[in-house]
Amino acid sequence: MNDKLDWSHPESLWRKNANLPSFEPLKNSEDTEVAVVGGGITGITTAYLLAKEGKQVVLLEADHLLNGTSGHTTAKVTAQHDVIYDELIQHFGEDNAALYYRAQEDAISSIEKTIQELNISCQWKREDAYLYATTSEGALKLEKENKAYELLGVKGGLVDKVPFPEQTTAVLAMKHQAQFHPVQYLTALLEEFQNLGGKVYEKTKAVKVYEKDRIEIVTGQDVTLTCDSLIICSHFPFHDGRGFYFSRMYADRSYAIAVEPETEWKGGMYLSVDTPSRSVRSAEYDGRQVLIIGGENHRTGEGGEHLSHYEKLEDFAQRMFGIKSKPFKWSAQDLMTLDKVPYIGPIQKGNTRIYVATGFRKWGMTNSRVAGELITDYIMGRESLYHSLFTPSRFKADPSMKAFLKNNMNVAGHLIEGKIELVGTRPQALLKGEGAVVQWKGERAGAYKDENGELHVLDTTCTHMGCEVEWNSAEHSWDCPCHGSRFSYDGHVMEGPAKHPLKKIAYSDTDELRHLPIEDYYEQGSTDQP
Ligand code: FES
Repeated sequence: MNDKLDWSHPESLWRKNANLPSFEPLKNSEDTEVAVVGGGITGITTAYLLAKEGKQVVLLEADHLLNGTSGHTTAKVTAQHDVIYDELIQHFGEDNAALYYRAQEDAISSIEKTIQELNISCQWKREDAYLYATTSEGALKLEKENKAYELLGVKGGLVDKVPFPEQTTAVLAMKHQAQFHPVQYLTALLEEFQNLGGKVYEKTKAVKVYEKDRIEIVTGQDVTLTCDSLIICSHFPFHDGRGFYFSRMYADRSYAIAVEPETEWKGGMYLSVDTPSRSVRSAEYDGRQVLIIGGENHRTGEGGEHLSHYEKLEDFAQRMFGIKSKPFKWSAQDLMTLDKVPYIGPIQKGNTRIYVATGFRKWGMTNSRVAGELITDYIMGRESLYHSLFTPSRFKADPSMKAFLKNNMNVAGHLIEGKIELVGTRPQALLKGEGAVVQWKGERAGAYKDENGELHVLDTTCTHMGCEVEWNSAEHSWDCPCHGSRFSYDGHVMEGPAKHPLKKIAYSDTDELRHLPIEDYYEQGSTDQP
């Protein structure tokens, strides 16, 4: 196994280990019954389910398929979505909490059925899932969650310990869950989608939507795809449709590493409920067993020194399992809704032609299947038990209102803080491969010095709503703390809701000297007046 990969270039185990096909961009205008935008697990699953119903479906992906969260998940296929059922009972009532559990369990069974029907080889394995606590507060949470399990009839309960040397205060099991290799599974689904007549276009960014007699989607290459129904699975909805999704969700980043352990693995999937969180499951790579260790989550654009998150995961892995080799590390971005339940359904109340599926709060493996089935039911005109629970137009005063205010106060805080922040670094001081917020002509700017020594200087004002982006040293990206937009080191949009790149600032060393404080200017050896 190669343990000498350059860890400054994160790479997901799932993407490395699969044979993904590639597709041409959409070059000429087309017409279809259903357009699905977003080539992650939700887009591919929904496209497949609709094609199976006999619908004519076109799938558009802005970049490459499975390049976002779906290719960078820990891929636990479970209804144990952290500590959630006690909270769901408090806020939504027992019946809705039971529905949420049932939706996830149905999703696990449906995925399993698809794997059997299509004979997909994707490391599918039933495993029990465990939440564990290491503090007394965590233990209290798990006791309450266990009571919720009893009330809802969830199969599981409190058990003694986890099979690694963590000092736990409580452990809660959920029986008969699953894990798999998401990219192998989705590659097979994609093949079947094409067999059913589905079309796929990559490098095709949907940028505008016109709701006329039919729906027109205009791409970045100015090509139009006309359809009867549009399903937006683009992680953050690329089209807001007056649903104000940016004010109702926030983005969260988390990290994962894959290590080959020194100790024997005893099975199961684990997640700690205290901070910092830790997630553990096994997988196969290159004929060997590896453990995927995840955690260290923080709001996008925050989180301090990003590279240190990998070091902390590695330290945990070393203490718990020992490390023979460490072939992969990667990170992912997830969207969190105000009340922890995804938004799946019409983009806005009464809209029967445009649907969204977003806000899976790190639990996309089952929620993507819930979304695929639910949206297929909408489009086929079928009733579903789950419509009202997941509909994006729900808004309950508690907890949504509190979370809404908190989220938007946080955005307002970043908006103001970013504008008045004092920054001292100069572009000139950066080393190769380093990026930072700098001072440029007295203003805040972002600079990155590439491996050839070329400086890329940008205006750090996010093009979505004007917050100030921050440098992410682990991913070499500019991340916005307000709604989670991400930009490459040279300003291109990597993740929305922003649609436009960061503004480039024309830069030259001579200019910089001209704008240095006078004492620094003379330090540079100049005898001219600045
Ligand atoms: Fe909304 Fe940056 S993502 S302001």
